[in-house]
Amino acid sequence: MKKPRIAILSTNSADCQCITEAALSLGFRVTVTSEVSELLSVLEKETPLLLFCDSVPANGGGTLRTIANAWDRSASIVLVVPPDIKPGHLKALKPWVHDYLTTPVLREAAAVRMRHALQAKTLEQAAGKAEKTLRGWVAGWESAISSYDPATGDRAVMVRDLARMILRQDAGDLDRPACLMLARANGMNGLDCEVFTASQAKEANGPVRITLPEMALFLRMKAESRLFHANYFDRGGTFRDFQSLFPPELLRLSGEVHNLAGLAVDGGYVVALNFGRPACAEDVLRLKGHTLPRILLETTSRSLHNLSDAFLVTIRALAIAADSQGDNGAHIGRMNRYAETLAQGMSMPDRFVRDLSYSAQLHDVGKMFMPSGLLEKPFRLTSDEYDIIRQHPALGAGVLEGSGVLRVARTIALTHHECWDGSGYPAGLAGNAIPIEGAISKVADVYDALRTPRAYRPAFSHDDARRIILDGDGDAGGTQPNHFNPEVLRVFRNNADRFDEICDRAGLSAPVQVQ
Ligand SMILES: [Fe+2]
Ligand SMILES: [Fe+2]
Repeated sequence: MKKPRIAILSTNSADCQCITEAALSLGFRVTVTSEVSELLSVLEKETPLLLFCDSVPANGGGTLRTIANAWDRSASIVLVVPPDIKPGHLKALKPWVHDYLTTPVLREAAAVRMRHALQAKTLEQAAGKAEKTLRGWVAGWESAISSYDPATGDRAVMVRDLARMILRQDAGDLDRPACLMLARANGMNGLDCEVFTASQAKEANGPVRITLPEMALFLRMKAESRLFHANYFDRGGTFRDFQSLFPPELLRLSGEVHNLAGLAVDGGYVVALNFGRPACAEDVLRLKGHTLPRILLETTSRSLHNLSDAFLVTIRALAIAADSQGDNGAHIGRMNRYAETLAQGMSMPDRFVRDLSYSAQLHDVGKMFMPSGLLEKPFRLTSDEYDIIRQHPALGAGVLEGSGVLRVARTIALTHHECWDGSGYPAGLAGNAIPIEGAISKVADVYDALRTPRAYRPAFSHDDARRIILDGDGDAGGTQPNHFNPEVLRVFRNNADRFDEICDRAGLSAPVQVQ
């Protein structure tokens, strides 16, 4: 690295010589001139560490301002003044002057100014580097948190972003590692590992997956501390000894390992290999800083999925318990798939499709309140019995009352027997007053009812069920096309084959998985 430069603007040859000797003894490069224009051309090419400038009239306030403006803000001007300078003159020059020396200049006094300037520059560079690192972290966290939805987030994308944040982007970036390994114990004394190299991260490629035996080195380091770093020369062994600590499968990807930094976290390890200079404790902290927010997101996501699974299993159990058909959930499973098909065909948002596809199965949850035997009656119902049955939508809505995640299910339970022409129940809603969730579920429910055998009639074929829904069954009190939302009916017509597939694939008695 180039040594910093000391510039001297002076007509005093004794001072120039003294300052030059001090600078050279400290290893600095030196530029000496008595011309402002020559100094300005030096400043154009390079920022000196320090400028010693004497206070002859030509170097008064105007000149200093010109120099200061041409210079980097972090640069310093040391003004060399006569011992009898007037305080008012010094005050006038203060905005552009960092320090003073009196002439004749003492060599040691000049050297002290240079050493202080170097220390200040070193600290300034360290602060600038720390700020850059912090900005990088904040940007990384912001991007991870804002772009990752724990409910639907893709872990692979998050891990790839993490690798890109941590790994070396260009060959000169010695503070970053060339290889990153995310390892998790697989319960069989091994580690399932995702290994990224700098080039993979740069090209936004995914990791190479390998299984490694649990490494003695990591175990030992973990026993000592959950945070660890090591260099090949740390423990007194040879470079070859250090390589023997790593499985060949890893060395094939990482190349020879010179150093590493890592942490044991969340049942596994995050390990960075081959920094461009010896690894140190700060590297571990940096790694931790990058990793923990993402692990938090991943843990939240896992918990959310577990809760979501538990929720789906619970409402499926409720739907099966309430189902009167005794088919172990096959009807309600098909309801989910039919409703999903219709919602997708109507280009509904993904969230709506998802909510609808798990909610439709609860459409008849109110039937659990129906008198025993009524639903299994092998003959057509009497008018009084039918009045009782007509209560099941409101009863079902009551069961599902009060929960935000069951809002769609409640709407479906309440409105899946309403008809577009206003002839349905329980409220006799008509047209667009019927929520679309209910209108979709109605078509799905009627199709499945037609395809299912009843005690008083056999099952209809797909073609017959399709015709009855689209054209009616010819019975004044039966199914009519004007019972259905015309838009839902249009999508049903266009996707009728898919309905047949769902019915065929699921069978009429086999349980259908909730997705
Ligand atoms: Fe119903
Ligand atoms: Fe049903």
